[in-house]
Amino acid sequence: MAMIGPFITFYNGIKFPQFGLGTWQSTKEECKTAVRAALDAGYRHFDSAFAYGNEADIGEVINEYIKAGKIKREDVFITSKLWSTFMEPSKVAEGCDISLKALGLDYIDLYLAHNSMAFKNTSSGGAFPTNPDGTPAVLDVKVQDTWAAMEKLVKNGKVKSIGVSNYSAEQVDRIVKHGTIKPVTNQVECHAYMRQEELFNACKKHNVYLTSYGSLGSPGRPESFRDNSHPVLMEEPFIKQLATKHKKSPGQILLRELIQRGIIIIPKSSNPKRIKENSEIFDFQLSPAEMKQIADLDKKLRLFGSFDILKCHPEYPFHA
Ligand SMILES: NC(=O)c1ccc[n+]([C@@H]2O[C@H](COP(=O)([O-])OP(=O)(O)OC[C@H]3O[C@@H](n4cnc5c(N)ncnc54)[C@H](OP(=O)(O)O)[C@@H]3O)[C@@H](O)[C@H]2O)c1
Repeated sequence: MAMIGPFITFYNGIKFPQFGLGTWQSTKEECKTAVRAALDAGYRHFDSAFAYGNEADIGEVINEYIKAGKIKREDVFITSKLWSTFMEPSKVAEGCDISLKALGLDYIDLYLAHNSMAFKNTSSGGAFPTNPDGTPAVLDVKVQDTWAAMEKLVKNGKVKSIGVSNYSAEQVDRIVKHGTIKPVTNQVECHAYMRQEELFNACKKHNVYLTSYGSLGSPGRPESFRDNSHPVLMEEPFIKQLATKHKKSPGQILLRELIQRGIIIIPKSSNPKRIKENSEIFDFQLSPAEMKQIADLDKKLRLFGSFDILKCHPEYPFHA
């Protein structure tokens, strides 16, 4: 099966699929089924992270397909992410090595700083560890210092490209100013209710692509991220109207709009039928008027919330 969707070209000359598979919250078996279904459907770009706990499952299937001669390593593009507890410059290489080992690969195509906030690895557990008194175990590490250590991963061949995730425009500006390698992408919440127009333009200024997460409104996100007063993106009447008109699903309309904006997308599904459905977005076009009407749905609404408890962090990104 040939690759689905177009390549975009990063400023560093590397071609990368604009369309890929998200894998957050896929359990081990779900994840393997999803990656197999996606490879069979023509997906060649897979978004993973140390924090998702499923790098080994993704790597297992990729290696299985390579061994079976169905794909070559250079046909697939794997993203992983450095978690907050490895953001001290002295720990960055260790964080990357753990991901490489779990994936069972010699290099990672795209390695992102998962967010801008470094944390101590205390015994509290949890994604953002706490101190014994329950306060966030914040580490004052500047994004440009983590970035300098990530640049070394490119120079020693462990990763092909580096980027960031959940960074503000100011933080992107700062690492560009201090660094010698620019990020290729900033992966952020981005969908029809959270257009990220200012951040999109701020990144574009540096030839940094935006990658959208939550493109479908992340209907499966955990309760702790949810505000039940928020509207459901795939239920938006205008999106449903366009779906009927184009004989597509609401999800396909939402994904198509992001593709036409030039944004990289990584919709997640662990259901083979929906994995295929999400890829069937390259045989129709939204008109300029329809694109404008979708743009008008923007509410600057963070469906994932703003992690207010972390506002005390010196590199908290969501003040704006
Ligand atoms: N950098 C970050 O901080 C960050 C944060 C969040 C996410 N991400 C990445 O971005 C990816 C995508 O974000 P996301 O998973 O939060 O949200 P999403 O892609 O907007 O939505 C995924 C959810 O939608 C369902 N779904 C998928 N296709 C569908 C369709 N055609 N119709 C109806 N429902 C459908 C999925 O359920 P089924 O699986 O049952 O189909 C899943 O519950 C993640 O998986 C992850 O790789 C990154």
